[in-house]
Amino acid sequence: MTVAPSDASLRTHAESLWVALSDQLPGLSIEVLPMVDSTNTRLMQQAREGVVEPTVLVAETQTAGRGRMGKAWHSTTHTALTFSLGLPLAPSDWSGLSLVVGLSLARSLHPELRLKWPNDLWWQQRKVGGILVETANIAQRPERYVVIGVGLNLETPSPQAWPQDEAQTMAPQAPAGLYEVLGMDTLWTRGEVLNRVLPGLVRDVKRFEREGFGHFAQAFAERDALTGLSVTLSDGQQGLACGVDAQGGLQVQTAQGMIVVMSSTVGVRPC
Ligand code: BTN
Repeated sequence: MTVAPSDASLRTHAESLWVALSDQLPGLSIEVLPMVDSTNTRLMQQAREGVVEPTVLVAETQTAGRGRMGKAWHSTTHTALTFSLGLPLAPSDWSGLSLVVGLSLARSLHPELRLKWPNDLWWQQRKVGGILVETANIAQRPERYVVIGVGLNLETPSPQAWPQDEAQTMAPQAPAGLYEVLGMDTLWTRGEVLNRVLPGLVRDVKRFEREGFGHFAQAFAERDALTGLSVTLSDGQQGLACGVDAQGGLQVQTAQGMIVVMSSTVGVRPC
């Protein structure tokens, strides 16, 4: 097992990121918590209570991390970077946001990282990270408060830490860690990883708000890990993944014809 370097720098990086991002996100706060149930849960609760300022919440440990479709997200202290970015947003079309987030992270981290529609970062068909996007209504404002949760494995998760359904049925391969992707000579601290991904993430989310998924579609296609693979949808349908459409829906050629799957409703895995 690789031992992650000390991340005392998490707070230092949080401070310099706050300085760098405050112009783009007026009112921004960046908090690093030693322990929280889930950074997404916390920001969603705050939003429902009317706290809708831009916030980055980083957890050193999450006790009840959540993934998509009601799954748990497991990570142990120092082996993963777990954070959520919350901000008011008013895109004309929300579809494709989680794809843009994944693309942004991949571009900031490594050329070999790929995207498994709709929300996983992949390396050699192994999951390195996941994204959970949730939104809350903001009273009397046109925007919604979006909470973008990111979980990135730094070290390779041990089999005991795999989510049960992924260990047993869903994942074709064991999850991977960013240190495998980077090579063991590059053991970035969690603060350094945050420093690499956050400015690009803020820039890309704001661009998504103005220009939608269309602006990112080509770049997503270049990192799309599923195109050309046979896939099984969580509703049992099977087919050939044929890339994403202009709204970020996954196109699948099935025996019944081409279908387009939207991210909120269906999971997908390679056959
Ligand atoms: C998935 O793979 O289904 C998405 C995983 C998202 C995990 C991150 S960790 C930070 C944030 N807080 C959570 O509870 N979940 C997200």
